[in-house]
Amino acid sequence: MEKTFVMIKTDGVERGLIGEIIGRIEKKGFKITKAKLFQPSRELVENHYIEHKEKPFFQELVEYIIKGPVMAMEVEGETVVETMRIMIGDKDPKKAQPGTIRGDFAYSLTQNIIHGSDSIESAERELKLWFS
Ligand code: TYD
Ligand code: MG
Repeated sequence: MEKTFVMIKTDGVERGLIGEIIGRIEKKGFKITKAKLFQPSRELVENHYIEHKEKPFFQELVEYIIKGPVMAMEVEGETVVETMRIMIGDKDPKKAQPGTIRGDFAYSLTQNIIHGSDSIESAERELKLWFS
């Protein structure tokens, strides 16, 4: 069964959206097979976002993810990687459609509540990174 990595970011946890987001994932029919609420290290988050290392927003992004606890999850289901990305919505809150998690709750590009792996390869890499 396909698996993906989903993380409720610090602002999502701070704003009390864990229940809402887990509810959407479960109601869709996906299974949360691992979950961990903790404050990640700088090293872990820099490695997670390694593809953006040279981008101007990288430092700000890392500081925001390490500032408090995040909810890291392994989510399982048919075509879960692509479907979770659709449920999450566009990273830009102005473009994210209503009905998506970011469309309904996010108002900032950097602080956009949730992460989901963008491909099966990314999901494998990210699950290994966060859960071993
Ligand atoms: P990206 O991988 O492009 O988006 P997604 O989270 O949808 O896979 O970018 C990773 C995160 O970096 C994104 O969720 C928010 C942040 N970010 C910024 O803060 N500023 C930016 O200009 C971009 C492109 C992303
Ligand atoms: Mg991405």
